[in-house]
Amino acid sequence: MKGRTVALAITGSVAAYKAVEVARLCVKAGAKVLPLMTASAARFVGPVTLSGITGEPVAIDMWDPAYPGEMHVAIAARADVVAIVPATADVIARIAQGRADDVVTATVLCARAPVAIAPAMHPNMWSHPAVQRNVAEIARQGRTTFIGPVHGEVASGESGLGRMEEPARIFEALAALVAPRDLAGRRIVVTAGPTHEAIDPVRFLGNRSSGKMGFAIAARAASRGADVTLIAGPVALATPPGVSRVDVESAEEMQRAVDRALGDDLSRADALVMAAAVADFRPSAPSAIKIKKDAGAPAIALAKNPDILASVGARRSGARPVLVGFALETGDDATVLAYAKKKLTEKKVDLVVANAAHESLGHAASRVAIVAGEGAEPFSEGTKEALADRILDRLAALAARR
Ligand code: CTP
Repeated sequence: MKGRTVALAITGSVAAYKAVEVARLCVKAGAKVLPLMTASAARFVGPVTLSGITGEPVAIDMWDPAYPGEMHVAIAARADVVAIVPATADVIARIAQGRADDVVTATVLCARAPVAIAPAMHPNMWSHPAVQRNVAEIARQGRTTFIGPVHGEVASGESGLGRMEEPARIFEALAALVAPRDLAGRRIVVTAGPTHEAIDPVRFLGNRSSGKMGFAIAARAASRGADVTLIAGPVALATPPGVSRVDVESAEEMQRAVDRALGDDLSRADALVMAAAVADFRPSAPSAIKIKKDAGAPAIALAKNPDILASVGARRSGARPVLVGFALETGDDATVLAYAKKKLTEKKVDLVVANAAHESLGHAASRVAIVAGEGAEPFSEGTKEALADRILDRLAALAARR
């Protein structure tokens, strides 16, 4: 999003207030936001709020004499994406027809950048054949991505398909549309989250991994054009747009999924990023029935799990796929780095992302050092999205050399 320009067009729906949050997320990510509104949108949300957040004048009236030049032409020329958030049934109909009767539809017609439409309306309206015909017509014209709608509660209090997608997801989808596509054609397998190792049908051994780092890597890689398979342990996270997801529970299931994704000769992927916190041990004989407490504290014998990353490292004969591991450790920076270097050589991988458990687990930001054969980058802090990009920059450079 950094340095990109988003033309954010708001139309007249109660969900208009959520467009303010989309604007804020874009601005926070370093984008320039050019706000546009239909006259009815201005009844739902104040233009002053939008100009306050974006630092830009709000384009509403195409006849505004104070506006230099043709409003829709100027906005369309600057936009890297035109986003209609929320989009009413009315604006969808007008776009389908190619009309240019206000600044929003005129900008859509004039723009050559991708257009993103986030519909918001009562489920009866969304499912109406006329609306569906208009949506199909817009899709047929190309260049347009629909973000949502989703199932959920709408303004009337009823539930159904028609609720606008959440602002954070809209932001992610817009970021994906404007991202540089330097990983186009690359196939990347990412693992994420913990594994759960069954004790009995009810209990498991697990760990505190949230999966956020692996999901951020998958999301960023997909945004940058990669073909991404995300193998996820049990986590409560939504699948990033454009990512194929395989859900697994245990380390052994994760290994099978990784083997399938890489292929027997490891030729199906250009890179494997093992961000999952794979359990090192599992109960060796999980009980088929629920263990009752009357029998006293059970002794749970453990067996070692396969080391997924090390087994791929050992099988790799050439330089493909690029292998990236994580080292989540406790201790000071020097201790964390020493463990990471040991993993780099023992697991025969290209990069190890070293981080300290207390600074990482479940947090939105992390402090990491990337360790490679030639040495380690110093520790630096950032959001998981920014770290994901740093890791992918290194991965892209390695993949290009091979
Ligand atoms: N990993 C794996 N399979 C396992 C365990 C770990 O593929 N059974 C991967 C992780 O996804 C991570 C890296 O190996 O990328 C480091 O994991 P870690 O558990 O820290 O490695 P260990 O060698 O188990 O470290 P330690 O013995 O210090 O716990």
